Parts: sequence; C-alpha cells; structure tokens
Amino acid sequence: MNNDIHAIGLDIGTSKVRCVIGEPAADGLMNIVGYGESDSRGMRRGIVTATEAVSESVTRAVEEAERVSGLDVASAVLNLSGEHFRGENKSGVVAVAGAGREISEEDVDRAIESACAMQLPSGWEIVNRLPQEFIIDGQDGIMEPVGMTGSRLEALVHIVIGPSAGRQNLMKAVRKAGLEVERMMLEPLAAAESALTDDDKEYGCALVNIGSEITSLMVFGRGAVQHTAVFPFGGLHFTKDIAVGLRVSIQEANKIKQRYGCVASFLLDGDARSENIEITPVGRTETRGLTREILCDIMQPRAIELLQHIAQETARMQPQISSGVILTGGGSTASGMVEIAEQVFDAPTRLGYLDGSSFGGLAEQVSGPEWAVAAGLALSSMRSQIREGSRTGRRPSKVAEWFENFREKFR
Ligand SMILES: Nc1ncnc2c1ncn2[C@@H]1O[C@H](COP(=O)(O)OP(=O)(O)OP(=O)(O)O)[C@@H](O)[C@H]1O
Ligand SMILES: [Mg+2]
Repeated sequence: MNNDIHAIGLDIGTSKVRCVIGEPAADGLMNIVGYGESDSRGMRRGIVTATEAVSESVTRAVEEAERVSGLDVASAVLNLSGEHFRGENKSGVVAVAGAGREISEEDVDRAIESACAMQLPSGWEIVNRLPQEFIIDGQDGIMEPVGMTGSRLEALVHIVIGPSAGRQNLMKAVRKAGLEVERMMLEPLAAAESALTDDDKEYGCALVNIGSEITSLMVFGRGAVQHTAVFPFGGLHFTKDIAVGLRVSIQEANKIKQRYGCVASFLLDGDARSENIEITPVGRTETRGLTREILCDIMQPRAIELLQHIAQETARMQPQISSGVILTGGGSTASGMVEIAEQVFDAPTRLGYLDGSSFGGLAEQVSGPEWAVAAGLALSSMRSQIREGSRTGRRPSKVAEWFENFREKFR
C-alpha cells in the first residue's frame, strides 16, 4: 500500500468541527487512522462570522486527530456549505468538428462549457460542474462520448452556484490555523461519497444532511446528481423550540433534546410517554417535571414542517427516488427522525452510516451519520491523491479531469 498518502477531511460546521484522517488500504478501502471533534465557534449558518474563533476550533479538532493518528496534518479537503448554494440543470449543444465526425475531448469540453455559459449574480461563482449524461444525434444516456461518432453533441450538466465570499473566508480561517486547503467540496456531495452505494445513485435517492443551522439536499438518479438545494434550518430549531416552550437555557434545551427528545410520538410506549423529566427553568433554582410526551409534542410538529419543505423539493423529481431517502448530519440522529421522514417522504428512509465497503481501521468509531461529511471528504481526498500518483507525469486535459472526477464521484 502507498503509505505516503494521508487523506484529511475537515468538516467545519456551525456546531461542530470534525476531522478524519485516512490512509489507503487494500481493495480501494480507506483505513481511518485518526479522528477529532471540537465545539465550533465563529460560524453561522455554515458561514464564517469570526475568523480567529473558527481557526481555534479547527486547531482543536485537528490536534485531537493528530494525537489519535500520531501524524502531522499539513493540508485538508474542506466542506463547502452555506444557505445560498443552489443547483441548476443546463444543457449545451455543439457541432462535432473533427474528421470522420469522431467526438474528441475538445468537443466534450466545448459542450460542457456551452452548458455552463450563464449569467451569475455579482460575487457568485460556479462551484461544481457535474456532467449527467450526453446526447449524440438524439441518442441519450451516453456517459463517455469521446471516440464515438456523431454530428451533434449535447451535454446535460448539473451546475451548482453560490457566493464566492463564503468559500474564501473559510479558506482564510483554515490557513490561519496553519493548514493548506487542498480543495473544497459541497457538503452533501461529501456525505454522498461516504454514505451512498452505487445502486442508490443509479436507481435514485435523496441525500438529506441535517446539520445544526443548515440542511442540504442532493438528489441522485441515473448515476448522477439531479438536484441540489440548501435550507436555512437544522437541529438548532428544535433546541430553540424547547428553550422557548419549557423556558430553559439553550444549553439545557440541547441536553434535554439529545437525552429524551423524540420526533415520532408513535414510537413512545405508555411507560415512555409518562416518563418524568426534571428541568430547571431559567432564573429558578428549583426543578419542575414534565413528561416525554410533552417534549415530543414540541418536537414532532417542527420535524414534520422541516421535512415537508425538503420533500416538496423532491416531489417534482424524475426519475423518482426509488432507493429512498438517506439522512446524514447530527440532526438526523434525533430519535424518530427516520420514522417520521419515512412518512413525510412516503419513501424508504435510513440513516447514512459509513458505507462498510469503503472504510476500515477506526471506522467503527466514526460510523455515525454526523461523521458522513468529514469521512466523505477524506475518502475523496484519498481517491484523488491515488489518481494523481498514478499519472505518468502528463497533466491530463480539463475534460479528462472532469471525467475522472465524474467516474470517481459516482463509483
Ligand atoms: N441525539 C441527538 N438528538 C437530537 N439532535 C441531535 C443529537 N445529536 C446531535 N444533534 C443535533 O445535531 C445538530 C448538529 O449536527 P451537525 O454536527 O451535523 O451540525 P454542523 O455540521 O455543526 O452544522 P451545519 O452543518 O448546520 O453547519 C445539533 O443541532 C445537535 O443538537
Ligand atoms: Mg454540517
């Protein structure tokens, strides 16, 4: 195995920073050799609001991962998050130029470029170009057109756009912590890397990453990304509801939520419903009691409301999400979230644990859905470092790079 490769994924969230260190193992697996987590400071809705605080939180998570692995971390692949990112499906058509009408990499390059020619709001950029398929003289569903014959080449491309300032500010905070930024990757794409199977992507599924203040949705189908959307809500909304409803501090509300919370009342049996929870209202020293049923009555309507927003986005999708819904992110671990999502989406739903066929080593310690983004970032870094290493000195063309990324992403 190539032990020079160390793949580092750094997921800088609004509530937690998580770092995963991986090394290549046999059969394309990644052995997880280090991981670290810290409370995040200086972030709001996925965006940096205080550089110094973010850089300190990054340092704490990275140092912990370094201690576990015994390695020094010099660079990392980062998550790209923020409420303004959105995806659009575009197409671009070109005439095949070459002799014998054989499609070249340049033709594909031009078709993708033509699909990406769009007016962007000031300060915005294209953050991802994800080819979906190609159409040659009306024949659709073609994945690798180079070398085929035809006269009209059309590229269907999923393009994700967003403001560039958020990306630049996160990079600054990470560099301040003494780390190089290898690359940045959209949060749901990273989660998909570690939690989805090839069949999920082929037959159609919705990946929903529920964070603290941001929830992102990516719909896959026919092996490609079909839709991307970001919503400005997450687990913190439940905490705030509990804090207001029970008149407790945010910290206490978060503890109550994680320890006793449930978003599906039908999961609570008689004993659980009447189970007594002691709480200390703000400004009081004496405690007061409430039942788990009351807590569930606060959380369940909010869960349904938030999931309905997301389900509305997927309802219009063709092909449909036959492989169902996969939930990742800390917010997805709330008791009853899978069951209630199954009802709202009317589709099979599961938590996105790390795909066992891709991870070894300390994978069990970070198998939970809240680690999906950090582990996916590390896995993506490892795969691209292996690709780089296997190249024979020749820099590949832009199109070849797109295709490699494309194949890797949907493998
Ligand atoms: N057992 C649990 N029950 C309910 N909620 C939980 C549980 N564990 C974690 N959460 C919630 O998950 C949220 C954090 O999720 P995560 O760590 O994925 O967010 P983040 O990446 O820091 O934030 P974001 O992605 O929004 O920037 C918090 O709101 C937290 O309260
Ligand atoms: Mg997150």
